[in-house]
Amino acid sequence: MQSILTEIMDIQSIKQRFGIIGNSGGLNRAIEVAVQVAPTDLSVLINGESGTGKEIFPQIIHQYSARKHGPYIAVNCGAIPEGTIDSELFGHEKGAFTGALADRKGYFQEADGGTIFLDEIGELPLSTQVRLLRVLETGEFIKVGSSKVIKTNVRVIAATNVDIPLAIEKNKFREDLYYRLNTVPISILPLRERREDIFLLFRKFARDFAEKYRMPPIALDENSRIVLMNYHWPGNVRQLKNITEQISIIEEKREITTEVLRTYLPNAGSNNLPALVKPSGEKAFNSEREILYQVLFDMKKDMNDLKKLVLDLMHEREGETLHGDHSRIIRKLYTDEGAVPDDIPSKSIHIDPMEKNIQDTEEFVEESLSLEDKEIELITKALEKHKGKRKYAAQELGISERTLYRKIKEYDIKG
Ligand SMILES: Nc1ncnc2c1ncn2[C@@H]1O[C@H](COP(=O)(O)OP(=O)(O)OP(=O)(O)O)[C@@H](O)[C@H]1O
Ligand SMILES: [Mg+2]
Repeated sequence: MQSILTEIMDIQSIKQRFGIIGNSGGLNRAIEVAVQVAPTDLSVLINGESGTGKEIFPQIIHQYSARKHGPYIAVNCGAIPEGTIDSELFGHEKGAFTGALADRKGYFQEADGGTIFLDEIGELPLSTQVRLLRVLETGEFIKVGSSKVIKTNVRVIAATNVDIPLAIEKNKFREDLYYRLNTVPISILPLRERREDIFLLFRKFARDFAEKYRMPPIALDENSRIVLMNYHWPGNVRQLKNITEQISIIEEKREITTEVLRTYLPNAGSNNLPALVKPSGEKAFNSEREILYQVLFDMKKDMNDLKKLVLDLMHEREGETLHGDHSRIIRKLYTDEGAVPDDIPSKSIHIDPMEKNIQDTEEFVEESLSLEDKEIELITKALEKHKGKRKYAAQELGISERTLYRKIKEYDIKG
């Protein structure tokens, strides 16, 4: 018995088994709570900013529970349209609504004897929250269009990156459901609150990408290591992983200097002072409008950069090379995917080959300033970039999948 317990509590082996990197007190504590709560049937609410690594925790809990041989179903509540979510979760009877040609089992029935992971629980419509509360309290639910009560034995784990108490204040989330779900809370700290994990994660990702792309791993010099550790990482581990991948692919020199590293860190500034820390759960952007303005600003910048690039290339063709260094141009194009280098002037310049005078390209920009047009353009771009995968397109746009779904319908966007 003692040896089993020691084995279960061996955090290092759990990390190895689930591919978790880091050794901060906060991370170890979260793993410890997950393992301790696993054998019970209590509901767990996992809370943490986007990209902190919440998704692995429900799997740990399921694997260390007596339900491990039962089903494990993960549902992204934010990805299911409001009109069909009840039917997806609880099933429907034949003829319950137009198109319901046959009976359908919902996830709560399919997960009987196992675990259901409700990701992005903050996106659940209020009417569905009522049904969920009932299942949690009684183990009973009713299919859409039916009157028959069905029993199920499901353990519920939920995750969210939104501030649920705030959602309760705004009447978007039921308080009773929150308390019921939050029987055991697990908080995953943002990276900036567990800085000792940053370098360990970077080193692991650098090795993984070196293997994947068959190149030597990138390494940081001492100063760039400090910059990396002091950066505020708004996108947390996901952002660190993406940036490590970008640098691994793009940079030829494998020793990464501060100057190069900064070009990959948006808003890193020219100092490496610790960033202002926001309370956990608070998002960098508060409203869709803010996100839209930010994206518009970035797009305008991209457009000007692109114009400059085209001009440069034209000049090169004419034998009048303005930028001989191609690799730099390519690197900039890549970094524009995610990171905005901080060495680019906020206004691009247009160089007239004949007169050699410098003008602001903004004079030539004639663009639609309709927010709706821009929204359509951005959504289309994001969908194209992510090959129609709405989850990633929504992430990039900084909106929920449901909002994206609604907008696609509203604007009749083909994607
Ligand atoms: N401690 C860690 N060790 C290794 N990889 C990690 C760690 N934490 C996160 N990751 C990786 O970072 C990425 C983002 O993690 P994850 O998808 O779990 O984020 P999340 O908290 O669910 O974010 P969101 O709220 O946006 O859904 C994943 O690729 C995951 O594998
Ligand atoms: Mg997630």
